[in-house]
Amino acid sequence: MNLSDALDWPSDGNNQSGGLWPSNNSNPTWPGQPATNPTWPGGQPAANPTWPGGQPAANPTWPGGQPATNPTWPGGNPSQPAAPQNSLVVPYKQTLPQGIYDKLLITIAGTIKPNAKMITLDFLAGNDLAFHFNPRFNEDGKKVIVRNSCVSTKWGKEERELQQFPFVQGQPFEMKILCTNNEFKVAINNSHLLEFKHRFTNLRAINVLHIYNDLTLSNVQMQTLS
Ligand code: GAL
Repeated sequence: MNLSDALDWPSDGNNQSGGLWPSNNSNPTWPGQPATNPTWPGGQPAANPTWPGGQPAANPTWPGGQPATNPTWPGGNPSQPAAPQNSLVVPYKQTLPQGIYDKLLITIAGTIKPNAKMITLDFLAGNDLAFHFNPRFNEDGKKVIVRNSCVSTKWGKEERELQQFPFVQGQPFEMKILCTNNEFKVAINNSHLLEFKHRFTNLRAINVLHIYNDLTLSNVQMQTLS
């Protein structure tokens, strides 16, 4: 049984049995790839109960008993309460007290600035970058999402392959990052985008999330899927 089945978690397209993770193009049943999805923002595919507007009934409380609807960090984080629109300061740093682990889901809501050059999201382990996610809006006239890691100040091999570029200057987005034992899975606006296989195996050492460059942030939410 793969993880998606175990969780009833959205498929990445390799899991043809379905699930709730937004699918990539290999699954024709999923509505709304970013380029063709006219419902975003503001619209939800009715069939997907995990997307904004509702968590599945089985879905999770944070360890220690946070209700699923409470977007605060476990134990509470008075300095970053549930936030109204565009109220988080960028650059934004979030400590991950328990590091990264299987079934940790991070949901980020924000808006790309109108003349954005790039946005960046880093998962740090000390001074190293376990996962650098860097959508660039104009690299020699092209849009590209660069993914990489950086150990002892040395960048690793870039991953650039992707058909889609779902971010739009001036537009809001919602990003979901699901951590598994093998990879980070990233979905944008309800559509699975990519995976980044772990290069850092000590997942618990990945203890900071950093979000910066040309965006505003309205909400960053963590939860553990049951
Ligand atoms: C470099 C860039 C870094 C980082 C890296 C990723 O060219 O200066 O900020 O994005 O690529 O491989």
